[in-house]
Parts: sequence; C-alpha cells; structure tokens
Amino acid sequence: MFDIRVHPVAAATYQHAFLHADDYRRLYRQSIEQPEIFWAEQARRFLDWFKPWRSVHHGDFAQGQASWFKGGQLNVAYNCLDRHLAQRGEQTAIIWEGDDPAQSTRLTYRQLHEQVCRLANALKHLGVNKGDRVCIYLPMIPEAACAMLACARIGAVHSVVFGGFAPDALRDRILDADCRLVITADESLRGGKHIALKANVDRALQDCPNVASVLVIAHTHAGIDWFAGRDHWYHEALGQVDADCAAEALDAEDPLFILYTSGSTGKPKGVLHSTAGYLLATAMTFRYVFDYHDGEVFWCTADIGWVTGHSYGVYGPLANGATTLMYEGVPTYPDAARPWQVVDKHQVNIFYTAPTALRALMREGEAPVQRTSRASLRLLGSVGEPINPEAWEWYYHVVGDSRCPVVDTWWQTETGAIMISPLPGATTLKPGSATRPFFGVQPVLLDEQGHEIEGPGAGMLALKASWPSQIRSVYGDHQRLLDTYFKPYPGYYFTGDGARRDEDGDYWITGRVDDVLNVSGHRLGSAEVESALVLHDAVAEAAVVGYPHDLKGQGVYAFVTLMNAAQPSEALRQELADLVASEIGGFARPELIQWAAGLPKTRSGKIMRRILRKIACNELDNLGDLSTLADPSVVDALIEQRLQR
Ligand code: PRX
Repeated sequence: MFDIRVHPVAAATYQHAFLHADDYRRLYRQSIEQPEIFWAEQARRFLDWFKPWRSVHHGDFAQGQASWFKGGQLNVAYNCLDRHLAQRGEQTAIIWEGDDPAQSTRLTYRQLHEQVCRLANALKHLGVNKGDRVCIYLPMIPEAACAMLACARIGAVHSVVFGGFAPDALRDRILDADCRLVITADESLRGGKHIALKANVDRALQDCPNVASVLVIAHTHAGIDWFAGRDHWYHEALGQVDADCAAEALDAEDPLFILYTSGSTGKPKGVLHSTAGYLLATAMTFRYVFDYHDGEVFWCTADIGWVTGHSYGVYGPLANGATTLMYEGVPTYPDAARPWQVVDKHQVNIFYTAPTALRALMREGEAPVQRTSRASLRLLGSVGEPINPEAWEWYYHVVGDSRCPVVDTWWQTETGAIMISPLPGATTLKPGSATRPFFGVQPVLLDEQGHEIEGPGAGMLALKASWPSQIRSVYGDHQRLLDTYFKPYPGYYFTGDGARRDEDGDYWITGRVDDVLNVSGHRLGSAEVESALVLHDAVAEAAVVGYPHDLKGQGVYAFVTLMNAAQPSEALRQELADLVASEIGGFARPELIQWAAGLPKTRSGKIMRRILRKIACNELDNLGDLSTLADPSVVDALIEQRLQR
C-alpha cells in the first residue's frame, strides 16, 4: 500500500536501550489497560513528591477536563535541581555555546540552583506572587532556563515569547496573559546579527500598563534606553537578595506555564500546562525516547520560545539530571559545519532538531559534515514537521554514519510531550514515519463523519483518552479549548493533523488539515498573517495559505485584493511583506503575494481556502466541489495569474 523502506531496528545493532520490543508491548498494554497502576508507578519513579496524590486521574475527556495526581504536591524546580544536588551538584547542567564559536560556558547543577534561588527571591522582591504571570523574552542563554525555573520555584506562571517575535506580537501576548513582569536582555545575537530585544520590549510596553518591572540581562552590553523605576539589571537584582529560597509546595494541577501557539482562527492561543502531569510526561519521554543514560550530553536545537525548547531543552533533561546544551545561534553560522563542530567540541551524544534545519544543512553538501568526527553521537531525533525520506536518509547515513537510530517524534504545543515516536532499540525505523504511540497515548484515525477507521488507511488524527501532559485550558478562554479540540469530533481530542496508518500499525503524519501553516518548523495561523496584511490602507482583503517549499517545508502564499484606488506594484508587494514581518516577525514574511481581483467565497461570504491551497500547490486537476461558490469565475482568474516558483 505504501512505499516503505524499513530499517531493521536499531534493536539488532543497538544494545544500549532501556526498553526492547517486548518491554514496549508489555508496558504499552499496561498503560492502556491499567492506566492507574501504570501512571502511579511512573509518577513515583520519575518525580519527587512533597505530598502524595489522592487520585491518579479523573475528568471528563469529552469536556476537555483532565486532572492528574489530584491532591499531590510537588515543585518542578525542586525536581529539576534540588534533588540532584547531593549526587550531581558538580555535574554540568547546562552547556552554553554562544553565537560566536569562541564563546561557551558551563553551569553545574549547584550553580544553576543558586542562580534560580536568587532570581526567585528577586522576583518575590519585585512583587511577583504565586499565580502571577511573568513574560520571558530572551535569547538562548542559560538565564532563560533560570527564569523558567525561578517562576516554577515560586509558583509564578511563565509565558515565554520567542525572541523572533516583533513588538506588536509581544505586546499582544503580554496583554493576553496579563503579565506583571518581563525578563529580557539588551540584545540577542543570531548568526552575527544583533537583535534589539530590550528596544522591542520598550515598544511593546507602551501599551501594557500592568507591567510594573522589567529585569534586563546584560548580554551583549549594547547601549539601551532605561526607564528608571521600571527597569532593573538582572545581575544587580540577584546580588541584592540571598541564595536561600525554599521551593513552594504546589498542587499537581497548579499552572506551570502558558505558551502561545497559532490556531486556524483568530488570535494566538495561550496553551496552559499544569505542574505534575507535564513534568512526568516530559521526564519520561526524555528518558525513553532519547534513551538517556546518566552522564550523556543532550542537545535540542529548538529555541526555548517554542514547546520543544521547554520540554526537551529544559524540563525533560533537567528532571533527569542530564546535561543539556543550549546554542544561541543558527545552524549555518559561520558555516554549515557548525552543528557538528559543536557536537565534537562538547561531545554531544544525542542530537534533536527539525527537518527544516536538516534541509538547510543538506543543501551545503556532505563536505562540512565530513570535516568533523561526530563519534560521540549515538542517537538522532527529529521534530516539528513531517521529515521527508531524503532528509531522514541523509540524517541517518551522513550525520549518523549509519549507526545512530533516528527518532521521528510527533507531538504539539498542546500535547506537552512526545506522543508518537519510535523507541530506539524497540521499534523498527521507517524513514518518514513517526511509528508508534508512546505509553498511554491512544491515537485514532477518523473519517469525515468522525468514525474511527480500522486497520490501514488515512484520516484525521485524533486522540481518544487523556494523557498526563494534556493541555488544560486556553488561557482566559476555556470555551476556545472546547471549540478547537473537543467539539469537532465529540469524544476525541482533534489534533488538526492528517495521518496514515500502514499494515504494521505505524503512523505517518501527513501535515495539518486546518488553516495552520508550518514554516521552517514555526507554527503560523493563516488568520494572523491575513490580519497583518489588511492593516495596510491599500488592502481590501487577504487570504493566506501554505505551499510546498524545499527548505522551509511550507512557504506563505498570500492572495491579496487591493482597494479600488490602489495600484499593484513590486514596491507594494515589498511593503506588504515588510508589514507582516514587522507585525509578527521575520519568519512569517510571505514568499509569494498574488494580486487577486476576487477571492473564492461561499454564498454566505466565507473564503474557501481549500481552493486557494490547491492553486498555491499547483494541484489544479482536482479542485473539488466548486458548486457552493458564489462566483466560480474568480477561480479561473486566480489560476491564470498564479505565481510561478
Ligand atoms: O503538524 C504537526 C507538526 O507540528 C505541529 C505542532 O506544532 P507545534 O505546536 O509548534 O509543536 C511543534 C513541536 C512539537 C503538529 O500539529 N509536527 C510536529 N512534529 C511532527 C509534526 N509533523 C510531522 N511529524 C512530526 N514528527
């Protein structure tokens, strides 16, 4: 049915693993048939508790309610730091590699613990209480992890905003979460370029009256504007408090963080995660999916502004007492050998990245890889978008010298942790397939009517039971949680992804089936880009879809209808692209802008993006049913004028 190349497990050649195929089958069955026993055992094994829980799980899944380890008390920072001090206080917790190859530092667990305690005290001193929201807008520097952990230590809720977001996008997120304090740096450095983070914060805060304080890290020591009374230097604030700060005993269901992500409609959603379930799932997946053994060095290239950076840059590794590497820069700076030089320099054992980065590196050929040893590597991971088999094979053969299993991990901001993935040593690898569900995860494929498809087939990917790191709410808008994920197919969590299942029962994620784009592994909503475009006086209407892009996975294709008085021109195209970059961030910039006399709409006025997607993807043979269109002739005009690429 499908053209599959199978890599006979890794198990045959990979003796390292904690879990082999039989263990996976047995534990998976137990996780489904006796979830209470299974999860209680894991929660005791992976986490330290201040107080035991009363019930492992309860809640009405169909209503989006999930409560895990109710009654239990614990602290995430305690689990990531304090409990390791006796055994591994002097072990490196974070290796930091700067944008500039000459810069790197290391922080031991003891040093990280001290900095987190001081920052937690400084936050309290600045009036941050349990439950308050703190915005973190930082480069990839160890202070970013400190900031997250300091919030967790006192029960404040962090909202990390990716440093690539523009001031307006930052402002919207600060307002939505009603943050009281912002932690930022003077500048960030990426590929030798300076990005004025503090200046962006200053602009964003013009409209955020509730933010009383800004903590500023002196990173590049660039000159910045200073607002006395509001702005405080991070190093001074930490110097003024003491290094003792008890970890707050928090309820298992207390919120840990908010992370904004794009949906198919409206403004970005503040995905809310809670304490115990999230930490358990990230700790456990980190151990088993990456088969992490003590003393190894793990490098996740994702920015902490995205969920991958939260779960596998910070929480999963530190909960396991691992050494995690944070890299400030971009993979191709100064050149395409950089990631492998970093691997050699710091003896990285496990490397986790996104297909878009692999494609960018692949384009430069094998020579930059071959210049390095990579002998320390033993496992490779992929995340964020479907990995095309060519990129998989390159990763496996060229980067991993055909000796390191590749784990293709499917999950989402909303799932908190890896949901579908091979386990090295237990699963047969297939390039392009995320293969099998993790423990407790029950994926199903649904047809258009919402019926489960049995056996091999293709459909919409949904999940039919709660898992510990399940999204708890959309911050400030619980109804949106229900409308987005639980109402489309009653009884199921709807992922927004399409998938196939092959004869072996392995899953192949095919990509989003809604109006969410995935550009270079960054999630972006059509509606967000459209809202930015219509801000321009010349624009009457805009519709945005994704199209296949060799490097980015998907590129942004915008159909724009101009006001009668406006004239299309190259200059206007540039202006519109710049507008999107300045409203959202450079990564959202449309690659292609097509002038459209009219857009395909239903009689009730709804834009049919399905048709636009086909036009943008050059799939003109099968445009589907056009009979519901108010004016089918607009489609012919759009096809005729479609942009070549
Ligand atoms: O479409 C899927 C894709 O990324 C989406 C989730 O994006 P985000 O919330 O930003 O989280 C990204 C990192 C977890 C999914 O709905 N996606 C993620 N991983 C994969 C993937 N698509 C295919 N294969 C994957 N391994």
